This record gives sequence, structure tokens and C-alpha cells, in this order.
Amino acid sequence: MEMLGMYPTWYDPSLGSGWVLGVIAVIHVLASHTSVGAALVFAWLATVAYKRQRPELLEYVRRYGVVLLVYSYVLGSITGPGIWFSATVASPRGISALIHSYVWVWATEWVFFVGEVVGIYALVYLAGKVDQKTHLNLVRYFAIASWGTMLIIVGILSFMMWPGQQAWYTEGGTLNGFYGPYTFGQVITRTAFMLMCAAVVGGIVASRISDADFRKEMTRKLAVLGIVSAVVGFLGLQWTLTTLPEHAREVMALRLPAWFVPSMWATFGGIIAYLALTFAAPRILTPWLSIAAAAAVMVFGIWPEETSRESMRKPWVAGQYVYSNQVIGRDVPALGVKSDIPALEARGMLASHPFIPADLRQVTEANKAEAGRTLALVYCSNCHNLTDTETGIRPLRKLTAGMDEPALSGFISGALATGSMPHMPHMPMSEAEAGALAHFLVGGK
Ligand code: HEC
Repeated sequence: MEMLGMYPTWYDPSLGSGWVLGVIAVIHVLASHTSVGAALVFAWLATVAYKRQRPELLEYVRRYGVVLLVYSYVLGSITGPGIWFSATVASPRGISALIHSYVWVWATEWVFFVGEVVGIYALVYLAGKVDQKTHLNLVRYFAIASWGTMLIIVGILSFMMWPGQQAWYTEGGTLNGFYGPYTFGQVITRTAFMLMCAAVVGGIVASRISDADFRKEMTRKLAVLGIVSAVVGFLGLQWTLTTLPEHAREVMALRLPAWFVPSMWATFGGIIAYLALTFAAPRILTPWLSIAAAAAVMVFGIWPEETSRESMRKPWVAGQYVYSNQVIGRDVPALGVKSDIPALEARGMLASHPFIPADLRQVTEANKAEAGRTLALVYCSNCHNLTDTETGIRPLRKLTAGMDEPALSGFISGALATGSMPHMPHMPMSEAEAGALAHFLVGGK
């Protein structure tokens, strides 16, 4: 019998595979956003230093460069491959979809990234050893390479939400998938937020400047930069939200908790207030205060922003054709990709998945609980915790508590198997499979 191209499922019972990936990604985003923003700030400061003959600005760039090298580049280089490894096991078909469409784009990203790494070493270690004009060129080269890595990754992230042009499904074409209004919205918003991150993290370096006047000047420069970029980023975000697919807005309205929008306002207000305070009274900026501010940006700004972007994309993981549970949910004629849904409707999941043990391909009275557990692993565990503990992410036992077996089986075949819930994938199941899953979920043996 013909099997679907499914892979084994990676199930993490404590955090859930999505969160493992999320934790790694948030650290990566702070490191990479700060670095790209700082690269642009360096280009600006180095140009001023060169024109007005102000070597202390270059010394600031060099010191900030050392901080980036030690923290951003080490953390970024560990968490970057960490995202690859965890995403590959959490979502093999999602990664496969991205590689099939974007392998050369990714190769280009690597070229920019290598350029960026060479650039930061060169600008730190050649400072004072090459003439000023060459050093300025190195700094500008670093800025272009850094911003280039961001541009490329944003195109790929945008495609993960949805292809830039709908024509991509029928005509294909890398650029059709890459460029859309959502891509541009993200480029503007991220560039602005990167400058804001660079301004906040730059405070850590500024707080250690020994010359009082220069410290005051740098602290104020960073505060103005941070405030302006926070405002631009916030406006950019409003625009970006209007470029989202209808489906994402629907899921967002349904899913985002009531505290989400107020908490984003509070974070925005908090950052502006902090920066305004450091502008008004630069003396209060100490290393610890600035480290705390950077940590707050990560926890209260980047974490919710990245998780909301991820949840808006649900139930899809890539291009609105691969679901988070790996099932392909629509045809993509341009790639010769066919939806798995008709095969699943005809035969169910247990008979179609290549990694199901032979004795579970047919549901029987004896294997009912195990068949149900297998279905839950394959179909649901990407988004739901399956243990009895009612902990972890959206624990299924908790969400289904209070339903008896027949009611649950009816819900599964009525709503889940027909794909009528916008926040969950279309998950076709035979009557026997729905029964087995319900049996497992009520704790049947
Ligand atoms: C793409 C991720 C995803 C997958 C896969 C998924 N769900 Fe869900 N499910 C959700 C989300 C999101 C919610 C909303 C609950 C929340 O926000 O806490 C939800 C809610 C539920 C609820 C509560 C009722 C409701 O509509 O809110 C049940 C029951 C449920 N899921 C069962 C399942 C079962 C059974 C499977 C596998 C056959 C499954 N889900 C697969 C994402 C998913």
C-alpha cells in the first residue's frame, strides 16, 4: 500500500517540541537582533568619528564589538544550529518544504553570515592597526553583511507564514514566495526593533565609559535612537498586522489571551520610559540597570512577539500547506506536491503512516488504547501534551476532562476529522480511529 511521506514524531513530554524550539529561538533572536542593530549603529558612529575626528567614538564601537563577539556571536552561533537541529526533528517536513524552495537563498544567507563574522573580527582586531578609511570601510561592510542576513531570513520567515504571492502555489518561483507585503512589513519592523535592541544593549557598554562627559553623550545618543526606533517599530508592527493572511487574524482573535495587547503596550511604555529616564538623568545608567533592561526586552518583548507570530501561523508550519503535525494539507501544483488529506480520508492515519508498528495498523479491541496513543502522538503531540499530569502545553487530558468516551469520539469525528476548527489541522480519521483516540484520552486501557 502506498505510504505518506511522514517521519517519526519527536515527542517531548515536559516542554513540548515547540517550546524547546521556542526557547532556543528567543535567545537567538536577542543575540542576532542586537548584532544587526549594532552593526548599523557602528556604521553611523564610525562615519561620524571619521568625519569629525573623534577617536573615542571608534573606541566605543570597538568595545561594543568585543561584547558582541563574546556574547552575541557565541550565543548566536550555538543557538542558530540549535534551531536547525530542533526544527529538523520537530518538523522534518516543514524544514524539507523550506529547503526545497529556498536552498539557494539559504546558501546566500550563509555567505552573508560568514561575511558578518569575518567583519566583526576585522573591525575589533584591526582597530587602530589599519588606516581610518579602511577601518570605516570594514565597519560599513559589517553593517551591510549583517543587515543582509536579516533581509534573507525575514523572507523565509514570511514564507513560513504564507507565500508572498498566491501565484506561488501554481507557478512556483522563489521570489513569488519570498516577497509580499508581509515581508516588507517585517523588514521595517524588525530593522527598527533591532536598532532598539542595539540601543538598550549598547547601554551596557556606555555605562562603563570612564569619561563622564562622553558617557553622558553616548547614553543620550542611545536613548534618542532607542525611542525613535521603538516608535517606528511599533508603527511598522501595526502595518505588518494588516498584511497577515485572513486565517492568521482569525486564529489570533480566537487565541490571543485578553492580557496580550495590554501587556505589549506596557512593554512598549516601559521601554520608552526607561530610555527617557536615561536621557534625562544619564548618571543613573549603571551596568546592572542596563543588563536588567536588556533581559526585560527579551522576556517581555521578544518572547511574546515571537510566540504570537508562531501561534498565528498555526495550524500551519510552512507556506500554509504543511501542517504543524507534518500532514500536507493542500496541493501545491508548482512543486508537484499533493495533499495528504484524500489518502487519509480514504484509509485513516494508522494505515498510511510508514512508521506505525504492524500490529497497530488495524484498530482492534486489544490494541485500542495503544492505537489511540499512537494517533495522539502523530496527530496531536506537536501542539498538546499527552501525559496524565495536566501540565505542559495545552494538556489534552485537561482539555477533554469532563467528556465521556462517546462524546469525545463524536467531537473527534465531527470537528477534528472534518477540519472545521480554524486553530487545528484537518485530521481525517476512520470511525475506528476516532473511537481509539477517544478511548485513550479518557484513560482507557
Ligand atoms: C496545530 C496545533 C494543534 C494540533 C496538531 C492539535 N490541536 Fe487541539 N488545540 C490547538 C489549540 C491552539 C487549541 C486551543 C486551546 C488553547 O489555546 O489552549 C486546541 C484545543 C483543543 C481542544 C479543546 C477544544 C477547543 O476547541 O479549544 C481539544 C479537545 C483538542 N484541541 C484536541 C485535539 C486533538 C485530539 C488533537 C489531535 C487529534 C489536536 N487537538 C491537535 C492546537 C492543536
